[in-house]
Amino acid sequence: MNKIEAIIRPDKFETVKSALTEAGYVGMNTVNVTGRGNQRGVIHTGRGAQAIEIDMLPKIKVELVVKTEDTDKVCNIIMDAARTGNIGDGKIFVSPISAVYRVRTGERDDEAI
Ligand SMILES: Nc1ncnc2c1ncn2[C@@H]1O[C@H](COP(=O)(O)OP(=O)(O)OP(=O)(O)O)[C@@H](O)[C@H]1O
Ligand SMILES: [Mg+2]
Repeated sequence: MNKIEAIIRPDKFETVKSALTEAGYVGMNTVNVTGRGNQRGVIHTGRGAQAIEIDMLPKIKVELVVKTEDTDKVCNIIMDAARTGNIGDGKIFVSPISAVYRVRTGERDDEAI
């Protein structure tokens, strides 16, 4: 089992959620985060002379635990739904999970996902 943490644009969340749901991946967490990637800040020049530098941008982290064999498929679903082709589209981190329990039934691991 793996945990997939996908950091995506907030305005892509509904699209990502629908794509996951349609493919049968329903359970998930979301966390509002601020972060930055390789480009560090974004500089906005408004009407005035002052440039505003935004260092940390708002993103949504979608977290879900999936069976090992589903991991690549789920990452591809997320990437296809979240991609605009521009910088800042996001990042996906995958890490191993050693156990999952369903509290109601006591089921474990793949049966509990
Ligand atoms: N190395 C990292 N570790 C943890 N979080 C990261 C890392 N890189 C990016 N993030 C998170 O992912 C978000 C989106 O990153 P972003 O898409 O800008 O990555 P990037 O590597 O700069 O790619 P791109 O060149 O397409 O912009 C960041 O705002 C931050 O929340
Ligand atoms: Mg970036």
